[in-house]
Amino acid sequence: MAASATRRLYESFPFPSPGADRPLIDVVGNELPLVVEGGLRDGWSVLDAGCGTGHTLIGLARAYPHVHFVGLEPSDASRDIARHLAERHGTTNVEIVDGAIPDTVIERRFEFIYSYGVVHHLPDPQAGLNWLGDHLAEDGLLHVWLYNAIGEAQRMRDRELVRLMAAHADGHGLDVVRALGFSLSLDAYGMPGAWAGTALDQAEQDVFDADAYLNPVVHTLRFGDLPELLDGVTDWVAADRVYGPHGAPYLDLSGTGGFPAQGPELLRPEDLFDDPGLRTRIGDLGNLDRLRAVELVLRPTGFRALAGRGGSLNRCSRRIAGNLLTGPAGRAQVP
Ligand SMILES: C[S@@+](CC[C@H](N)C(=O)[O-])C[C@H]1O[C@@H](n2cnc3c(N)ncnc32)[C@H](O)[C@@H]1O
Repeated sequence: MAASATRRLYESFPFPSPGADRPLIDVVGNELPLVVEGGLRDGWSVLDAGCGTGHTLIGLARAYPHVHFVGLEPSDASRDIARHLAERHGTTNVEIVDGAIPDTVIERRFEFIYSYGVVHHLPDPQAGLNWLGDHLAEDGLLHVWLYNAIGEAQRMRDRELVRLMAAHADGHGLDVVRALGFSLSLDAYGMPGAWAGTALDQAEQDVFDADAYLNPVVHTLRFGDLPELLDGVTDWVAADRVYGPHGAPYLDLSGTGGFPAQGPELLRPEDLFDDPGLRTRIGDLGNLDRLRAVELVLRPTGFRALAGRGGSLNRCSRRIAGNLLTGPAGRAQVP
């Protein structure tokens, strides 16, 4: 029931954009080298689990022409747009596949799986994560973007009100979102006023509002939920980044640094406080508690984590190795 209602939502509102002529999301191609040393490697197979309209997928496929990409997506409308995008940009290293986690069988394993904004819409996130883990290669990496329970608390209440008032209405309910005066701003996700560097057009604003307020299934999570959810799924899990009205800093829980001076924003736990005593105290906490402090102070709306199997941690940046929440003993703190 919930799964088909979710599917209906994305048939009417393919995410992130119904426009195959709209710009690709190229930023992820620039971000991955901050996570995986050197970025995606030639010859890898990469899965975008829940690729939507493929604006990120095709952007990545262009950035990494020697990587083979598979986009899995249950919405027909979204897959059509993704295929148009691939044609329009002449990308030949992408397959768009009809299917849904955790029901679809893919007889392949992937060196890198990313799933952005999807697991929290599954009726059973644990089953979804198990499926993703089952599709990782021996040294595979899993990158997920999830809603954060702290920063999303108000929107969850707004969503509840929309769904209550729209329950017996005709149509999809966007009129109720408008009547209540709600409209999602990308500022809340650290992307001030812009998507792919371009302001949302009306059709995209409708998509983002439907995604935000009409979604039948939403689970919000915390970093602290991941060790249990990924127990037995991957061998380690690490924090990567938080997203919120304050921006979208990369986390550096162990102070490994390593970003160029003009590079993207890096957040160390002590940056949360001006008080010297608090700066010292947070240094005494373990990584999970440092993340609790980050969540409680910054109230992020979204967060990103990386997890992996086998020797995959060796492929990651020093920053990620210093951000471990669970994993190989002795690797949690990098000097
Ligand atoms: C918020 S959108 C994110 C799309 C894309 N990942 C992005 O970041 O632009 C969620 C996507 O997950 C897809 N989805 C929903 N249930 C799914 C499932 N069980 N398996 C795979 N994808 C699913 C939806 O159709 C939708 O395209």
